[in-house]
Amino acid sequence: MIHPDIERILFDGQTIQRRVESLAAEIERDYGGKAPLFVGILKGSFIFLADLVRCVELPCDIDFLAVSSYGKESETTGTVRVLKDLDSGIAGRDVIIVEDILDSGMTLSYIMNMLQNRQPASLSICTLLDKPSRRKAPVFARYVGFQTPDEFLVGYGLDYSDRYRNIPSICVLKREIYETV
Ligand code: PRP
Repeated sequence: MIHPDIERILFDGQTIQRRVESLAAEIERDYGGKAPLFVGILKGSFIFLADLVRCVELPCDIDFLAVSSYGKESETTGTVRVLKDLDSGIAGRDVIIVEDILDSGMTLSYIMNMLQNRQPASLSICTLLDKPSRRKAPVFARYVGFQTPDEFLVGYGLDYSDRYRNIPSICVLKREIYETV
């Protein structure tokens, strides 16, 4: 049953899974013979990362970076705070940053700069969702699951005020939930 706060489903679980499998196949082709390090950006990426790495048949490592840019707001503040850094160094590693959504690009632009300074062998971005119309900082994502319209999306890891992450589909949230009259 659809959650009462949801206006409509944009991508259902089956559609997401098929796309995740084809992204994993692209990554396998591009990183054949290598052992990439997947870096999940918490919290939003946790479901996507879990599904993605289970489809990638390569030796790999997994680490997490926890950042916060939105807090409880629905618009980015432009300030990125690192709440949890990586557990290990990445010098010489082939790093794939895994994100749920690329919106203004402020978060990934900050993270790319920070990680590039640590001298990885390569650094690329895999984002499930991309909202190109919202971009403020130039960011190139090598792997994109879906381009999406500028609507408030929740589910499959994405939240509003830390809710709705467990919904298995990617959904448009009803406007009255995030807009106060
Ligand atoms: C969301 C999302 C990205 C970021 C994208 O994170 O997971 O990290 O916003 O927005 P941007 O391109 O405008 O910077 P959020 O700060 O909401 O935290 P969360 O991952 O814990 O939900």
